[in-house]
Amino acid sequence: FRAALLWFDPHVPGPSVRYEPDGLLVTGPGDGPDAPRRVVDVGPWATLAPRYAAVPLTHWPQRLIAPGFVDMHIHYPQTDVIGSPADGLLPWLERYTFPHEARFHEPAYAASVAEVFLDELLRHGVTTALTFATSHPASVDALMTAASQRGLKLIAGKVLQDRHSPDGVRDETQRSLLDTEALIQRWHGRGRLGYAITPRFAPSCSDAQMRGAAELAARYPDVWIQSHVAENVDEVRWAAQLYPGARSYLAVYGDFGLLRERAVYAHCIHIDDADRALMRETGAAAAVSPTSNLFLGSGFFDYASAERIGFRYGLASDVGGGTSFCPFHTMLAAYCVGRAGVTGGGLPKQGVSLPPSHLWWQHTAGAAEAMGLAGVVGNLAPGCEADFVVLNPQAKPLLARKWAQADSLEEALFALIVLGDDRVVERVCLAAEAQPRL
Ligand code: GUN
Ligand code: FE
Repeated sequence: FRAALLWFDPHVPGPSVRYEPDGLLVTGPGDGPDAPRRVVDVGPWATLAPRYAAVPLTHWPQRLIAPGFVDMHIHYPQTDVIGSPADGLLPWLERYTFPHEARFHEPAYAASVAEVFLDELLRHGVTTALTFATSHPASVDALMTAASQRGLKLIAGKVLQDRHSPDGVRDETQRSLLDTEALIQRWHGRGRLGYAITPRFAPSCSDAQMRGAAELAARYPDVWIQSHVAENVDEVRWAAQLYPGARSYLAVYGDFGLLRERAVYAHCIHIDDADRALMRETGAAAAVSPTSNLFLGSGFFDYASAERIGFRYGLASDVGGGTSFCPFHTMLAAYCVGRAGVTGGGLPKQGVSLPPSHLWWQHTAGAAEAMGLAGVVGNLAPGCEADFVVLNPQAKPLLARKWAQADSLEEALFALIVLGDDRVVERVCLAAEAQPRL
């Protein structure tokens, strides 16, 4: 494929962006018959073209090829909860989210929403996602079935919530753990699918359920863990009441054995440096969800402290607390959150100006690395699974102008982040073929 190319240097840790205004991306078959296609080579057209003269060529002039986006935290059953206003997280869960998720006990309903959800991800160029289902095991089956037909990389799990949850979504401790193990065996590693053990958050899971989740996480080390932590001050206060002996809310998960690599914790807003060090030491990652945090008024992720301590994080939409599936909107909100800075101990801290290439990295290669998928997805370095988007900056008049006026790569990426939306995502190419619907 010949076009402008954006990717990240796989040999340099962090967001070392690479750009080729006239590039060549060469893809080839994966290792096995059903293995995802892989990137074979990437670089300047002029140097690579002679080497691949025999390979069929597609030329997309004035287009930018970039890695498919990675959404580290989203809720597929909240596709229709987007834009439900409430006075913060806990009222929002009670008023909209739990009643809506209760509908997913109905497999046909779950299947219909799964289709809309996957269509939205792909339309926006998201080719890898880590998503919550609901507490109903059938909600996982519906989503995984639909995802395997589409060919994107999807990791999902049945929500665990056996307390402080209303009828219709509350599950039963022993049954929930048996269901989780059965779902791991049914779906984890099948095609591009993965499973995530999914305790909703500590306040909604009994000690027995948390212990059971941790026990499964230890027995299945390549299965993911996903949960929420320190999103909202009322939630943090509640967690402290429920676990008076824990050093912090995050430490509750650590004490149960739920912090490890491939463990993704959404939000991580109201945490301290000891928590950040715990994230770094355990290899757990934060899913930063700025549109959700702004919409629900949860607070601001502290980028400066995250960088200072050095733990893994990446971007996420958190739909339906989040307001958009669009990676451009999420990156812009992350930039605004960085600028806003945070207030610690009543003293405003200086904001940070995250460069556009850093924001882009957080939503592609950085997110993949945080999830334990470095070199697998989120990048177009040789060996990566060949998921990519073809972006057309001409798709919006104002963006076309800003794109043409840009004097540097960072300015051009800023134009896309600030002015881009789904109209700009002209094409989405997946490493796996879509399977015919059964
Ligand atoms: N904490 C527990 N459940 C949820 C949820 O569904 N969304 C968000 N944003 N936070 C949560
Ligand atoms: Fe969430």
